[in-house]
Amino acid sequence: MSGIEGRTAIVTGAGAGIGREIALRLAGAGAKVAACDVVEEGAQECAAAITAAGGEARAYANDVSDAAAVAELCARAAGELGGIHILINNAGITRDALLLRMSEQDWDAVLAVNLKGAFNFVKACARPMMKERWGRVVNIASVVGQMGNAGQANYAAAKAGMIGLTKSAARELAPRGITVNAVAPGFIETAMTRKLDEQARSAYARAIPLGRFGTPGDVADACLFLCSAAAAYITGQVIRVDGGMLM
Ligand SMILES: NC(=O)c1ccc[n+]([C@@H]2O[C@H](COP(=O)([O-])OP(=O)(O)OC[C@H]3O[C@@H](n4cnc5c(N)ncnc54)[C@H](O)[C@@H]3O)[C@@H](O)[C@H]2O)c1
Repeated sequence: MSGIEGRTAIVTGAGAGIGREIALRLAGAGAKVAACDVVEEGAQECAAAITAAGGEARAYANDVSDAAAVAELCARAAGELGGIHILINNAGITRDALLLRMSEQDWDAVLAVNLKGAFNFVKACARPMMKERWGRVVNIASVVGQMGNAGQANYAAAKAGMIGLTKSAARELAPRGITVNAVAPGFIETAMTRKLDEQARSAYARAIPLGRFGTPGDVADACLFLCSAAAAYITGQVIRVDGGMLM
């Protein structure tokens, strides 16, 4: 896809699921990829898969919620891979519980990883992107951030917050040639949704007009488009990849 070749891309949560697929496809389109994950083996496996396929990648072990560590990682990656042009804020966790049973720890953990983590990376990558006068940020939100979900007050709040972060950063960074968009997946086949029991899965599938859960590739395709030259005039948007679940 044009506009991606030769760029350096940071992908958080690249060790599994959607992040891994985005990292592989960005590398396939010619980007040099910094595969970051809190699980070091995950990051290494992703970078190894990219290298085995003939691409260029390095693995970085990192907790997105640690601001100082994120700043250090971004400086290292910029030095080792040559600047930073693309940022995919994908790392995310769930700690589901109904409101009355949701602990303060579960609230804080989900906000720290899903929302503060994205802020940490946007802040650390903004300066190198400004230097290039070119940048693409894609935040992986969720339809739940737009529609809410019983049992996910922490997760929905974090994902709604990510959408506010996306629009604010888009306005601030547009004059520097940097676009900032969000992709909001519905139900995607990954470890995160494999936790659901069969009854919940078929109830959710019935609520999806296209009649199936999405694949990590469905989400990665939207991300690649937003990073490509074809999306140069799109910023501050939320693109839903949800089989029509929310319209
Ligand atoms: N799977 C879905 O149905 C779905 C739907 C909507 C949105 N999303 C979002 O997509 C993103 C990826 O989800 P997934 O389904 O691939 O999940 P996953 O659990 O399969 O993968 C998440 C990855 O993030 C990493 N990670 C977790 N905490 C981290 C931290 N503190 N620092 C760095 N890395 C960390 C994990 O180690 C893992 O490799 C998440 O932001 C998730 O909220 C997923």
